[in-house]
Amino acid sequence: MPGTRLLLLLLLLLFGGGLAPGAADDDGAAAGRCTYSFTVASPGEAGCPEAGDGRELRAELAALAARLSLLESREAGAAAPAQSPRVQSARPSTPAACGDLLRAVSRLEEDKGRLEREKEELRRRLESSARELARLRAARCPPRARGSPRDALHGSGQASPWDPQTIDYQELKSARMEVPASHLLEETAPGRPDAEDSGCGELVWVGEPVVFGQADSIAGKYGVWMKDPEPVPPFTRATTWRVDTVGTEVRQLFQYDDAEQFSKGYPAKVHILPRALESTGAVVFRGGLYFQQRRSRLLAKYDLQGEAIAVEKEIPGAGYHGQYPYSWGGYTDIDLAVDETGLWVIYSTEKAKGAIVLSKLDPETLEIQRTWETNIRKQSVANAFIICGVLYTISSYTVPNATVNFSYDTATGTSRPLSIPFENRYQYVSMVDYNPAERQLFAWDSFHMVAYPVRLARA
Ligand SMILES: *[C@@H]1O[C@H](CO)[C@@H](O)[C@H](O)[C@H]1NC(C)=O
Ligand SMILES: *[C@@H]1O[C@H](CO)[C@@H](O)[C@H](O)[C@H]1NC(C)=O
Repeated sequence: MPGTRLLLLLLLLLFGGGLAPGAADDDGAAAGRCTYSFTVASPGEAGCPEAGDGRELRAELAALAARLSLLESREAGAAAPAQSPRVQSARPSTPAACGDLLRAVSRLEEDKGRLEREKEELRRRLESSARELARLRAARCPPRARGSPRDALHGSGQASPWDPQTIDYQELKSARMEVPASHLLEETAPGRPDAEDSGCGELVWVGEPVVFGQADSIAGKYGVWMKDPEPVPPFTRATTWRVDTVGTEVRQLFQYDDAEQFSKGYPAKVHILPRALESTGAVVFRGGLYFQQRRSRLLAKYDLQGEAIAVEKEIPGAGYHGQYPYSWGGYTDIDLAVDETGLWVIYSTEKAKGAIVLSKLDPETLEIQRTWETNIRKQSVANAFIICGVLYTISSYTVPNATVNFSYDTATGTSRPLSIPFENRYQYVSMVDYNPAERQLFAWDSFHMVAYPVRLARA
C-alpha cells in the first residue's frame, strides 16, 4: 500500500543517515552537512546540534509516522487500542457504565469515519513533510560557530525559514486513539478548597520540579495537565486532567481519579471534546475545561459533568494561530490562567503591537471584565502565569538556568524585573500554569508533567 512506501521513505529520512544520499553522520556535520537524527528526548545529542529547530520537524515526522502506521494497522484489521495500557483502567461493567460505553462506542464509530478522511490528508502531508526535510537537509545545515540559533530565531521575532510556524508543525495528527473507559466515579462529595484567607503575596522562590507523570508517545511531547482549584462534584481536588497537544485535531481530554492513576497513565475516562483545542493554554476551573478553539480566537467552556460546551466567546482582537505565541511557538497565542482571584486570559492584539495583554474573565459568560496592557513583548517570553493578580514571565523554555524575570501587577499597573531561578529540567517547557489550591506551578516539560513548589511573601 502506498502508505507503507511513504513510511519507509520517512524512516529512511529519519534514521537512515548512512543510507539516504546526501546524509552524513557527525563527521559529516563537521564537513558542513548534517544528519537529522531523531533525538527529541535529548536534544543536546542531535547530529547537527545547532540545527535546533530541525528537531521540531523531526518530532512531527515521527508523530506522522506513528499515526500513519496506526491507521495502517487498523485498516489491516488489528485492534489498535488493545495494546494501550490505558484500557486496563476499564472497570467492571454495571448498568450505570453501560450507557457510557454505548456512547463511547458511537463516538468511536464517528471517529473511525473521520480517521479515514484524515488518513488521506496525512498521506499528503507526510509527502510534503518528507520533501521539506530533504530540502532542509540539503540547504539548511547552519554554519557551526554562530551562537544559539534558537536565541537568534526567537529573539528577533522575524519570520525565519527555521521558524516552526512556517513548517506548519501543529498541522499534524496525534497518534492517540484510546478507548474511553467506563465512567464510574464513586467519590464522595469533596470539600471546597480551603476557605482560609488566600495568603496572597509576591513570588519570591520557585523550587525544583517534581515529576508527576510522563507521556509515552510522541503526541505527549507538549501538552497541558491540570487540577481544578475549585472542583465541582463529582470531581475532587485529586481529579487530574491531561491533554496531549501534538496534533491538529486535539480533542481528547484524559480524566484521572488521582495522582497515582495519573502517574500510571490510567485514565478513568477519555472525553472527546466537541471542538478541537489548540495549544497548551487550557485550564480546569469550577467544573469546566476552558480552552481556545483551534484556529480561532474563540474561547469555550466545556462542562466536565454535562460533557458539553456550556459557553463560547470571542476575545476581540486577540491574535491566534501563530500571530503572538510565546517564544517556543506552538500556537501559544492565547493562554488561560487561574489564580486566587479567578479566571484570566493572556494574549496580545494588533493594537497592543504584540505586547502582552491580560483580561479578567467572567467564568460563567466568558465576558471580559477588565483588560490591562503590559509593556512586555509576548514573543520574547517563554511562558507566563498569574499569582494573586500579578503576571510573571519566564525567560526561556529550554535553558536549565532560566529565570522568572518580569512581573506586572494588575493592582498597581506597574512592572518590574525579577531574577528568580526556574529550572527547565527536560529543556522543553511548553506549558506553565499556577494552581492556587496546590500552591504550585504545573508545567509540561518535554514529555514530563511536573510541578514546582513556590513561595510567596507578603509585600
Ligand atoms: C526576560 O527574558 C526575556 C527572554 O530572554 C528577555 O527578552 C526579556 O528582556 C527579559 N526581561 C527582563 C525584564 O529582563
Ligand atoms: C546560564 O548558563 C550559561 C552557561 O552556563 C551562562 O552562559 C548564562 O549566562 C547563564 N544565564 C543566566 C541567566 O544565569
